[in-house]
Amino acid sequence: SPGVVAAVERLMRRVEDFPVAGVQFCDLTPVLADPEGFDAVVAGLAAGHEIGSVDYVAGLDARGFLLAGAVALRLQTGVLAIRKAGKLPPPVHSRSYELEYGAATLELPADGLDLSGTRILVVDDVLATGGTLGAAVGLLDDCGAVVTGLSVVLEVPGLGGRDRLSGTPLTCLTVA
Ligand code: PRP
Repeated sequence: SPGVVAAVERLMRRVEDFPVAGVQFCDLTPVLADPEGFDAVVAGLAAGHEIGSVDYVAGLDARGFLLAGAVALRLQTGVLAIRKAGKLPPPVHSRSYELEYGAATLELPADGLDLSGTRILVVDDVLATGGTLGAAVGLLDDCGAVVTGLSVVLEVPGLGGRDRLSGTPLTCLTVA
């Protein structure tokens, strides 16, 4: 919707040379701190997903957590936190992925929750290389779940993220 694009353009903070020289960091903090901005973002992330068509909304550690709970309430589902490694007690499902420097791992509990056959919408703040969302899709696949959609607030173009995620319906509300 035009509302969310306007809110992001008006409120997003752009920081040059962070975390490394030559990279522009897009900080969505002021967008999510604004009541109308947050409402527009949450509505946009949920758009296209009918109540009853999704079983869980999953958010990615850490900024995706802010969004997933709100989207889940909107779609009348429960919420899942996909954690970075080392936060959950065993047993866990885990998936590692490449970062620009090094690697990271995403995890979900392997006990106490049966995700087999469930339909999951995954939300996060930013899509860059797609490594994080790609790992989340793999992790949920390992759990037997079906990722029915990926929704992010901001797409950083030119890093191949969209291509890496082809196969799963992707919604990006704005482009950096
Ligand atoms: C950022 C962002 C996404 C990811 C996108 O998270 O919130 O999750 O990077 O990058 P990618 O598409 O190249 O994988 P970060 O890893 O900085 O974690 P944080 O939310 O805990 O700060």
